[in-house]
Amino acid sequence: GAPVEVDISKLEPGQLIRVEWRGKPVWVVSRTPKMLEQMKEHEGQLRDPQSQEPQQLESSTNDYRSLRPEIFVAVGICTHLGCSPGFFKGNFGEKVEGTDDGFYCPCHGSKFDMAGRVFQSVPAPLNLEIPPYTFLDETTILVG
Ligand code: FES
Repeated sequence: GAPVEVDISKLEPGQLIRVEWRGKPVWVVSRTPKMLEQMKEHEGQLRDPQSQEPQQLESSTNDYRSLRPEIFVAVGICTHLGCSPGFFKGNFGEKVEGTDDGFYCPCHGSKFDMAGRVFQSVPAPLNLEIPPYTFLDETTILVG
């Protein structure tokens, strides 16, 4: 499949947009400062906080799993059996312990933080996949 250009000039803080790349849903999220703060508190609750397994793109192994802290790009497919997790803002706490923002898979209850890092004690074995992407300019991302 061809690379996909994503215009993020109208992306609001806290907003998620979906595009399709190689037949997969790809999310682009503008993370708020609060979301970035919350992520630091998850370290001890995550299965693979540093994204060491499996071998991943360099851009997905830093603290924010992204090229820019405020912009998160991920493949929106659960690493368990392939359902698409939902994006929960503030009400993540209704589905799981805690009140943080994140992604919740309705199929078997896997949960991921705002960097797509999987929490412990859920069926999904791996963090969400980060696709290859680059910034063409300040407001345009090329996925693929
Ligand atoms: Fe997501 Fe099973 S497919 S938890």
